[in-house]
Order: sequence, then C-alpha cells, then structure tokens
Amino acid sequence: MEKRTLGKGLEVSAVGLGCMGFSHAYGAPTEYQEAVRMIRRASEMGYTLFDSAEVYGTQENPHDNEILVGEALRPYRNQVQIVSKFGIRFDMTSPEVNHPLIPDSRPEVIRTSVEGSLKRLQTDHIDLYFQHRIDPAVEPEAVAGVMADLIREGKILHWGISEANEEYLRRAHEVCPVTAVENRYSMMARRYEALFPVMEELDIGFVAFSPLANGFLSGKYGKSAQFDKKYDYRSSMPQFRPEAVEQNQQLLALVGGLAKEKQATPAQISLAWMLCKKPWIVPIPGTRKEERLQENGGAAEVKLTQEEIAELDQALDLIPMSEVFGGFRIVK
Ligand SMILES: NC(=O)c1ccc[n+]([C@@H]2O[C@H](COP(=O)([O-])OP(=O)(O)OC[C@H]3O[C@@H](n4cnc5c(N)ncnc54)[C@H](OP(=O)(O)O)[C@@H]3O)[C@@H](O)[C@H]2O)c1
Repeated sequence: MEKRTLGKGLEVSAVGLGCMGFSHAYGAPTEYQEAVRMIRRASEMGYTLFDSAEVYGTQENPHDNEILVGEALRPYRNQVQIVSKFGIRFDMTSPEVNHPLIPDSRPEVIRTSVEGSLKRLQTDHIDLYFQHRIDPAVEPEAVAGVMADLIREGKILHWGISEANEEYLRRAHEVCPVTAVENRYSMMARRYEALFPVMEELDIGFVAFSPLANGFLSGKYGKSAQFDKKYDYRSSMPQFRPEAVEQNQQLLALVGGLAKEKQATPAQISLAWMLCKKPWIVPIPGTRKEERLQENGGAAEVKLTQEEIAELDQALDLIPMSEVFGGFRIVK
C-alpha cells in the first residue's frame, strides 16, 4: 500500500486499521485468535498503522484491545506504527449503550496510563500517542509538557490530539509539536474541514476516524439492519434508523454512482474522496472481515481528480442527510 507522512516524519500506510471494533462498540468482541489473525492479515496486506486506545475493551477486560493489538503485532513490531490514546474513562454507571466519557488528563494520570499501555502493547514505545479527548480542567500546555517528556524518554515517538479544536491545537503545538489530529471525518461529518488550513499551516496530519460514518457509507446496511442494543453502539446511532436510511438514499446513490463509474465500491469511494483531497489525510476504517480489509485498503488505489472531489463536495453541501453519530457526550 502507498505511504503517507503525518506531521514531520511519521510515515504510515495511506489507510490504517481502526482496531476498536475487535473489542468495543460494535457488538460482541471478535474471538481473540480470529482477531489476532485479522490484524496480522492486515499487516501482510500492507497496513502499517494500527489504532488502539487504553479504553477500548469490554466490561470484563477494559483494556482488551491493547492486549490484542500488542500480541498480534509482536512479530511485525519494527514494520508497523502503533497508535494508542490516554485521557478518558467511561461512565459505566450510565445505562446508555454508548457510555458517556469522563476526561482526565492530569499529568500523573497520563504517566500511569502510558506505563500500562506500553506493558499491554508489549513494546518499549508507542509510535503515536493521542490525548483521547480534551480535558477542560487541564491546560494544553501542561499536557504538551508531559508529551515532550515522554518523547525525550523514548516512550512515545509522536503525539496528537483527538477531537481537537484550533485554539487547543495551537497552544499545545507551541510547547511540543503535534504530529496529527485524530478527528471524526466522513462525507456525513465534514465539520473539521474548517481545521484544514490550520493543519496545513502547522504541518499537522489528520487521522480520520469513523471515515465510513460507522459503516453506513458502504451502502451495505438497509432499513432492516439489526444491532445488539446492549453492546453495539450502532443501535443508537441516528444514521442507522429506518427513517434515516430513507433520508440518505440520495447520498448513497451519489456514492454508488461514482463507485460504478470508477469500478470501485461505495466504501472505497468514501475513503478515496478524503485520501485524494489532501496528501496528509489518513483514514482508519475499522473492520472485522478479511474481504473488507482488502476492500478498504484498496481505496488507496482509487484515484479521484480535484474536479471530481469538488463536484462531490458541492453535492454533499446540497443533499439532504440524516443526523449522524457525532461522538460521545462528555461529562465532568
Ligand atoms: N479517536 C476517537 O475518539 C475515535 C472514535 C471512534 C473510532 N476511532 C477509531 O477509528 C476507527 C474507525 O472508526 P469506526 O469503527 O467508528 O467507524 P468506521 O470505520 O466508519 O466504520 C466501522 C464499521 O463499518 C463496517 N465496515 C467497515 N468497512 C466496511 C466495508 N467495506 N463495507 C461494509 N461495512 C464496513 C464495520 O463492520 P465490520 O467490522 O462488520 O466489517 C464497522 O461496523 C475505530 O476502529 C477506532 O480505532 C477513534
């Protein structure tokens, strides 16, 4: 797979693998050995960027995902870039399927988190370490100061901010250069395009999470799709409601039409749209199916011209769309 550079010098595969769904948010976790096999298959296919987090796990094993990613990538450690994240925990007292987040980026908490992550990931360094959510109680300078120390100590190589805004990003970047932002971005969620000029100015890459609008843009989920109400966040995501599927028919037809023209799939068009827009955008679609790993990775070979992207953007501005899942409620 072709490579891209995030920030100043982190080379990664153009499409990364979001590993969250193996353990968290998309129904029952994948059987452990099957998940190990899938992650290794991804590496063999040319994926080098693997996205995990301290909090991706199950009720029984809250850090399950890092353990899985560490084990799966052990034989490939020198050829891959491991992403993990610190700075949140879930409010497990909430009855909602998508538990609200409690941010906590106090320096002593970050210190404990990084040691735990390194151990579970079976590595002496994390390639890219994200603050999972901004903590309103901790100044960006304080977080960036800890990151600078961790980089000096060799425990992390690069750092970034997830769901970053401009002011926070600029202040943090002053203290310790930020390599990438990891924000939600898809044809259904384009609000962070407003940050593009800042990322360009500061030379910061963009790791795009939920790039398929949680799978919706693949066009493979119809009105009758059923999701587990206890473990699958999609059961409460607005874009999967039957009336939303109806509302989004024009969008799916737009993506599907271009897919036919390009001999690609709708998922590939959704990813190629962002890949071709900027050379510093790296989507990290999540999947637990081998054929979809191949399909999503193949998006790096689908080429859209700047005119085609502009036409798509114009259409996306006008097309009626349902609400889309927009992230987690933060409680403090
Ligand atoms: N920083 C953050 O706060 C944050 C938040 C959310 C996610 N993330 C990261 O971003 C990654 C991706 O985001 P996401 O998983 O929320 O959303 P996504 O990648 O947009 O969608 C994932 C969903 O789409 C399905 N899917 C994937 N490829 C498909 C294809 N080709 N055809 C049909 N369905 C397909 C998957 O189902 P199957 O597994 O059944 O294929 C899964 O249910 C996560 O894994 C996680 O690592 C980060």
